[in-house]
Amino acid sequence: MIMISDHSGRTFKNLRISLLSACNFACVYCTDDNAALPFSKTDGLSISNLLNQVSKLHHHLNLNSVRLTGGEPLLYPDLGELIKGLSTIGIKEIKMTSNGFLLEKQVQKLAALGLKEINISLDAATEAAFFKMTRRDKFENVKQGIDAALKAGLKVKLNAVIMKGKNDDQIMPLFNFARERNIIIRFLEVMRMGHLHQHQDDYLITQQDILDKIGMYHQFLPLPRKPSATANYWETKDGFTFGIIANSSQPFCQDCDRLRLDHKGNIYGCLSENEPIEISKAVSDNDFEQYLRNALSQKQAVKFTGSKLSMLNIGG
Ligand code: GTP
Ligand code: 5AD
Ligand code: SF4
Repeated sequence: MIMISDHSGRTFKNLRISLLSACNFACVYCTDDNAALPFSKTDGLSISNLLNQVSKLHHHLNLNSVRLTGGEPLLYPDLGELIKGLSTIGIKEIKMTSNGFLLEKQVQKLAALGLKEINISLDAATEAAFFKMTRRDKFENVKQGIDAALKAGLKVKLNAVIMKGKNDDQIMPLFNFARERNIIIRFLEVMRMGHLHQHQDDYLITQQDILDKIGMYHQFLPLPRKPSATANYWETKDGFTFGIIANSSQPFCQDCDRLRLDHKGNIYGCLSENEPIEISKAVSDNDFEQYLRNALSQKQAVKFTGSKLSMLNIGG
């Protein structure tokens, strides 16, 4: 293993794999189309090739964690086999980010195979508001998925993207939903991605707006920021932790250690607009390391600058 780092000392330690670009929801920040995107196996790497790429990345980078994303990762047919394979390669922390719809059925098995943590998207705390955000009437299923994940012993966090005029009335209902269950919730500033590439400002609710809202009901103090974290965290007087991912108003590029791999074998060093780098085409170790250096140079100096790709393609 050699040390690959940039002039700010940044390197890659956390790999996020976007397993597929399919999803069974149609969240308003992710797509402007109501249709579900079905899974198609045609253009992805085989599972053995995918595991081979991860194994090489782990060999070169000594990764701390792998997070599985999508689209919706629970739609990936070989998910159990993949998680087992990642454990075998030696990945200690296997995590996932999911919409939670298909979780109830699968989570017990995935936990037994080595899944440790899950971040579940939940943008509303009532059926009607949930439908407005996801265009699906699956609030109850997601709730059951959350309960099942807790029961399976996973570390669970909730992610709530807050959009002006869409679900900004859901901040306190979501806060209370999480607090009743003692689950950490993070509120996300909406990002300039996909169809929102030019329209993020129309919907932006900032970290300060969210703190002002919660501050009307609770007193809280900031917690120290962990290196390379996406979220800032606070703790209320009665010991409840919540976070905010302030992509716009308080960016966190300075110590970013995330690398992205998609199901076609491309890596991306940054979520901002970038050319894919086809790591699966590397022949020698030298090639492989050069591709990693190229990816590292894609990182932004200060803040996320937008992407025409939506999270469906790159997984957040
Ligand atoms: P934890 O390790 O549990 O804190 O997870 P995470 O926040 O890294 O992962 P998650 O998949 O829950 O991501 C939540 C959101 O954080 C994403 O939707 C993005 O909005 C944002 N995010 C994650 N990684 C990055 C990143 O590298 N850059 C930027 N700008 N935003 C990111
Ligand atoms: N802005 C902010 N968050 C987004 N997500 C998807 N699209 C956006 C966007 N444009 C979130 C999902 C999920 C995470 C991976 O990304 O809600 O929690
Ligand atoms: Fe890292 Fe790029 Fe996100 Fe900044 S915008 S935190 S450099 S992935």
